Amino acid sequence: MRRLFLAALAVLAFGGTAVAQNFPSRPITIIVPFSAGGPSDVMARILAERMKATLGEVVQIENVTGAGGSIGVGRAVRSAPDGYTISFGHLGTHVANGAIYKLGYDLVTDLEPVVLLPSNTMIVVSKNAVPAKSLSELLAWLKARPEPAATGTAGAGSGSHIAGLYFENVTGIKLQYVPYRGTGPAMNDLVAGQIDMIVDQLSNSINQVRAGNIRGYAVTDTKRSESASDIPTAEEAGLGGFHMTLWSGLWVPKGTPKEIVTRLNAAAVEALNDPAVRKQLENLGLQMTPKDKLTPEALGAWQQAEIEKWWPMIKAANVKVD
Ligand code: MLT
Repeated sequence: MRRLFLAALAVLAFGGTAVAQNFPSRPITIIVPFSAGGPSDVMARILAERMKATLGEVVQIENVTGAGGSIGVGRAVRSAPDGYTISFGHLGTHVANGAIYKLGYDLVTDLEPVVLLPSNTMIVVSKNAVPAKSLSELLAWLKARPEPAATGTAGAGSGSHIAGLYFENVTGIKLQYVPYRGTGPAMNDLVAGQIDMIVDQLSNSINQVRAGNIRGYAVTDTKRSESASDIPTAEEAGLGGFHMTLWSGLWVPKGTPKEIVTRLNAAAVEALNDPAVRKQLENLGLQMTPKDKLTPEALGAWQQAEIEKWWPMIKAANVKVD
């Protein structure tokens, strides 16, 4: 009986290590909770491509959309804790959604943090038909309208929605939200003039602004973006107190062996340190994660701090979701 017990103990003790040593032995899936072509999807695909080289297995993207990203996160939370399913998310999905939806999972206790990914400032953009040439002219135009402006988001609780709520708070101007499955499709409608504006991630708007297909008015960081240096900060444009950057991250289901979390973190960090990856991301206006914030623990602490920071404003907005 004792021999059996010791044998079982050995399997438990070394089995996990053996599992981690053989990891990965098949393709890994990153669940992106927004549609293809949006800022989350673009960043995830850039990272997945480079992580494949380190992990030696395919790292594929699965877009699982809806409900501000909470459906895709739920899919990841309920997947096997074996490292083969990763949850891509951000301030919206892994902080705001917890204040808006009855999620059926806990954003902190049902997930293990893997790595904090680059962040980007938000930018106020409009369709070209809006007759404003500056943020103050845009605010005047919005205030003069009989109806609130149609403002694209990726759904209640998404980053673009939180940014819209924040914009309403600091300007006192009501917006009419038009939810999409991601700000990729929202951008298509903005370029086509079907909606009026988005408070968008810079990485999603920057190329359309550069091409003159939409108007960019101000960024919500405390400093201008080096990749869009002609666009003023909201502060410079006369709108104080509008400071927001949207950070992203990777998580795995609770219970994933620590050695596997370490392997995934190392592969993501190697991708983030790759000069070609950095160039791609920085050209989109993304700011790389500070070196001292690349550990799983750093993402866990950051997420907790962001929950404490944002939940009061989000709950006060009393967002109704059906
Ligand atoms: C959002 O929260 O607005 C999303 O990041 C949009 C997206 O990635 O499609």
